Amino acid sequence: MLNTTSTLIAATPASDGASPSVGPEAVPILLEVNGTARTVRAEPRMTLAETLRGPLELTGTKIACNRGACSACTVWLDGLPVCSCMILAIEVGTRRVTTIEGLAKGDTLHPIQQAFIDHDALQCGFCTSGMVMSCAALLERNPVPNTDDVCAAISGHICRCGTYPHVIAATLAAATVHKA
Ligand code: FES
Ligand code: FES
Repeated sequence: MLNTTSTLIAATPASDGASPSVGPEAVPILLEVNGTARTVRAEPRMTLAETLRGPLELTGTKIACNRGACSACTVWLDGLPVCSCMILAIEVGTRRVTTIEGLAKGDTLHPIQQAFIDHDALQCGFCTSGMVMSCAALLERNPVPNTDDVCAAISGHICRCGTYPHVIAATLAAATVHKA
């Protein structure tokens, strides 16, 4: 069982008795990432995306716009895709974080990852890990999606390389493997 971050952060009561303030110096934050409890030191202003890529050295999560507009930074919180640039690491609490590094089972890629390779669904790759996380989450909640379902799942994702048709084909193909 994870402790909440509130038990770990160096909270200082506000002089007016309102909510406590922390930082700006780095504080210990406990996160569950890809099934492992990790304690990192991060400034309270740091987003989850920055914390993953920095102290946790999980650079598969990309930061592009850094303002919630492109979904490149998508990870799962308790299985739901979220933009990790839009949540502070210190806000995550006991929610389980899953990143692109947590999808494969050992040397076996997740069906979505394999399908992206098979269907040439990436070019520069900058949007790809976020796309994969959203498409994998789709298969978790809907093992037999149609094209509209895939389009809805990736609707917040910006791909400057225009891989959308390949991403849709890959996800539909992965669905047949995933449900098998
Ligand atoms: S980098 Fe997070 S939404 Fe663009
Ligand atoms: S593959 Fe280049 S931005 Fe999507």
